Amino acid sequence: MTGKMIDRPILRVLAGEAIWPPPVWLMRQAGRYLPEYRKLRATAGNFIALSTTPAMATEVTLQPVRRFGMDAAILFSDILILPWALGQKLRYAEGEGPLMERIEDLAGLDALDLNRLKPGTESVMETVSRVRTDLPPRCTLIGFAGSPFTVACYMLDGKGGNFARTMGLIYSDPGLVAAVIELVTTATIDYLSWQIEAGADCVMLFDSWAGLLPPDLFRAHVIHPTVRIVDALQARHPDVPIIGFPRLAGLMALPYIAETGIAGFGMDTGTDAPSLARLLPRKVALQGNLDPLLLRAGGVSLDHAVERIAREMAGVPHIFNLGHGIVPETPPDHVAMLIERLRSLEPAPLEE
Ligand code: CP3
Repeated sequence: MTGKMIDRPILRVLAGEAIWPPPVWLMRQAGRYLPEYRKLRATAGNFIALSTTPAMATEVTLQPVRRFGMDAAILFSDILILPWALGQKLRYAEGEGPLMERIEDLAGLDALDLNRLKPGTESVMETVSRVRTDLPPRCTLIGFAGSPFTVACYMLDGKGGNFARTMGLIYSDPGLVAAVIELVTTATIDYLSWQIEAGADCVMLFDSWAGLLPPDLFRAHVIHPTVRIVDALQARHPDVPIIGFPRLAGLMALPYIAETGIAGFGMDTGTDAPSLARLLPRKVALQGNLDPLLLRAGGVSLDHAVERIAREMAGVPHIFNLGHGIVPETPPDHVAMLIERLRSLEPAPLEE
């Protein structure tokens, strides 16, 4: 049987079909809110070892699917594994998030080596193929990368925060910023192609910091690299859909959707989903966008929001998700309740 013949609801939505109730997965569905993750994380020693040891990364990827039965698994890794594989020093400090040895100048960028990408990410591809083998057939396997701008923010600032250095360099040394984005774009095309060849059914680009950019720079550093990635991937793997998530893009979501060939658009928490659905410049699947803090809070408000979002999107190709990642304080029971609530919605969606 070929991959196309297997019924995977998320792939059907990405092909433009509206399904009721919508299929669901959650950003950061594997991670610290799960006791089984914390247990394995403690034995792994550090986060990079966990991400690059196929047996452990496979187990962590499958944990939420086993516990909650989501419609997709997302590869367990991190967006910074790519620059790490190119040779940039990276560590994850407890309570501080990722810390990189930052790129100071073009000479620092030259020290990174595209030839290291393949050997440096072989373990990731091994994880992808193991997960695809172990995953229930109906479940979609999502591969991912950070978008070049967001990855460049960490590479140039060395850590998360407000990315003051990167945002300054954009005007004071635009050549350096463009060169970093160019390198990451080139690397990302191979990195995502290899994930697809290893068994990923679709891929997602996480552009968490896209919203820092004014419109002209959003075009240059978000839309253009995304077009390059989507075009190159579609040339190599025409049937594999790509989901874009330019967080906090605001109205720039419209040219982003119009000008990139993405099949799915990830709506952040602040997006008014029905308005966006009405304004869409072309047909695209929408993904999102429950507030992760409401998932943490739980209760009737969570129930109501799950139903409201699903009903507002009825008739639209929609993948239910959060507007950003699960926060570590989220009680796992709330995730179970979300999925149960969604799947038990009355069959006939209410008309407006
Ligand atoms: O379940 C999944 O969604 C798959 C795995 C995944 C991780 N990171 C694991 C992770 C994915 C898709 C990411 C993407 C990612 N990583 C983004 C884009 C999405 C977003 O949240 O905005 C960004 C900006 C990063 C960079 C990064 N990695 C940060 C800022 C942090 C620290 C904050 C945090 O949540 O701890 C990480 C570490 C990280 N990535 C962890 C996990 C499970 C926690 C590491 C640990 O266990 O100590």
